[in-house]
Amino acid sequence: MGGAFRSYLLFLLLPILLILHATILHNHCHHNNDNNTVADLSLFTNSRWIVDDRNNGERVKLSCVNWVSHLDAAVAEGLSKQPVDVISKKILEMGFNCVRLTYPLFLFTDDKLGSTTMRQSLQKLGLSGSVAGVQVNNPSLVDLPLVNVFQEVVSNLNKNNVMIILDNHLSKPGWCCNDNDGNGFFGDLYFDPEVWVEGIGRVASMFKGYNNVVGMSLRNELRGSRQNLKTWYKYVYPLKTCAERVHATNPSVLVIISGLNYDLDLSFLQTNPVSLSFSNKLVFEIHWYGFSDGDDWITGNSNEVCGRVIDRITNNALFLLDQGYPLFMSEWGVDQRGTNDNDNRYLNCLLGLAAEYDLDWALWTLVGSYYYREGVIGMEESYGLLNWNWGEPRNSSFLKKISPLQSPFQAPGLSSIGEHRVLFHPATGLCMQSHSLSLGPCSDAVALDYTPENILSVKGTNHCIQANKVHMPVRVGTMCGEDSSSKWEAISASKMHLSSKNKNDTIVCLDIDSKNIIVTNICKCLSEGYPCDPSSQWFKVINSTSFSIAPPIIGLSQHPVLEGFISNS
Ligand SMILES: *[C@@H]1O[C@H](CO)[C@@H](O)[C@H](O)[C@H]1NC(C)=O
Ligand SMILES: *[C@@H]1O[C@H](CO)[C@@H](O)[C@H](O)[C@H]1NC(C)=O
Ligand SMILES: *[C@@H]1O[C@H](CO)[C@@H](O)[C@H](O)[C@H]1NC(C)=O
Ligand SMILES: *[C@@H]1O[C@H](CO)[C@@H](O)[C@H](O)[C@H]1NC(C)=O
Repeated sequence: MGGAFRSYLLFLLLPILLILHATILHNHCHHNNDNNTVADLSLFTNSRWIVDDRNNGERVKLSCVNWVSHLDAAVAEGLSKQPVDVISKKILEMGFNCVRLTYPLFLFTDDKLGSTTMRQSLQKLGLSGSVAGVQVNNPSLVDLPLVNVFQEVVSNLNKNNVMIILDNHLSKPGWCCNDNDGNGFFGDLYFDPEVWVEGIGRVASMFKGYNNVVGMSLRNELRGSRQNLKTWYKYVYPLKTCAERVHATNPSVLVIISGLNYDLDLSFLQTNPVSLSFSNKLVFEIHWYGFSDGDDWITGNSNEVCGRVIDRITNNALFLLDQGYPLFMSEWGVDQRGTNDNDNRYLNCLLGLAAEYDLDWALWTLVGSYYYREGVIGMEESYGLLNWNWGEPRNSSFLKKISPLQSPFQAPGLSSIGEHRVLFHPATGLCMQSHSLSLGPCSDAVALDYTPENILSVKGTNHCIQANKVHMPVRVGTMCGEDSSSKWEAISASKMHLSSKNKNDTIVCLDIDSKNIIVTNICKCLSEGYPCDPSSQWFKVINSTSFSIAPPIIGLSQHPVLEGFISNS
């Protein structure tokens, strides 16, 4: 969060869980008909991509959800509400392939804590209702020591082919994080580097046999008054020691490293890269929330805020892609009730960026409700995918909106139709279709080219998208590049408006109408403040290799929606 945290820091405390699981279309096929696929799963990096070495180096896109297991009770949340197996299957059902599973370090370094049973741990917090719930839903776990409960959760995810990233969220169990909680930086009250290296090493060793444990995130959200670059480099030693130890102990896991300032800042790696003895296993992680920028999204102009924040993220983290490292956006999320406009505005900007770079990611969070959080029993999590009783998605329209990110847009090395572009509309989570000029599922996206002259043409045809009268659907014509109506420039501070000049020399932007048909309208909110919401006009031209859309020109001209526009041009 870029330094200026304001009062939102408290919120930042969001704990994290990661779960990983291979989202790739191709992988699903393999999982289905080859029992050994899972057993051998070991991921590597190939430039900025995470790949499955065993599978011809095919990309595996991590689309994870954070499952919290680091709060006071030191046990995975939700076990009082649903059987662990039901939760694992629900994760897959919701389209995720992976869990970022958070844990407190002391679970593995304090034997007294590790050997406390789940019943004892919940009872100590006065949570007799939770004990009763666990007895009903997970009777075999209730009297197991906490370490074993954690193992059982990992086992169950493993068995269900959900990939797992083990995330050391903090040291002392509890809600995370703030500057002064003693868990923030090497040398803080609960963060002895030696104990940490030792504990992470134990975790690496303990989960060696679990083949779906594909990554270990060494430490979440370094932060606090001690943090500064000098100190970070001073403490690079424990970080390097830890990374080397994990790799030596469990060479199959990806080693995931975070930066400073609550995982917002890795900019120092531009000039001082970390050098390790191993390669092809290192991934960096960043976090990005709406409140990372305070309430900027509701006090400012969305285009300006989105542009500024993306510049910051480019400087703080995206450059790592060019350096040849995968970037794992391991925490992001919104209040899923849809009532927080700061979050709503941020989300459209985030979805555009995450799709454009096709990042690996983990949503915050799976949790419907917590056993006990910050003194509150049974606290509901409005950022949670599941509802209070962990039975159903909290908001299925949210899930649908983010679903295009669950599949890779790009799968280098496996493309059968070559590189192309798709036109993505973050506010709906939809793409321009192959069979009509409206938005629809990105899996049916039309394959486009976007030329250096800013012409958006249908791949493999001489047809391109052209501006029309205000409020009218765009046209598909063949007069490409002959006048300005077929040239689309990304404008505004966010670069998310695609603008052209129609035949009347009116500057228009792509937009959608109430039926999700792509139209041209007067560009909006280029400079107005908060009340103006530009998101209907936000589009991204996304690099893609994954969608096999061959939009036959014949099909286009025969389509009732298109016919008129084509002959018009
Ligand atoms: C997969 O495992 C099942 C049960 O263990 C077995 O019946 C089946 O033959 C195996 N399939 C393959 C392709 O090995
Ligand atoms: C789901 O989210 C949308 C906006 O993202 C909101 O309009 C809707 O009310 C939410 N539904 C529920 C059940 O919270
Ligand atoms: C998209 O592809 C173009 C052409 O290959 C490339 O120049 C550009 O950097 C890519 N963009 C992203 C975000 O990867
Ligand atoms: C151009 O402007 C004229 C007059 O304002 C209007 O009648 C006509 O429909 C417009 N044409 C286009 C292509 O926008």
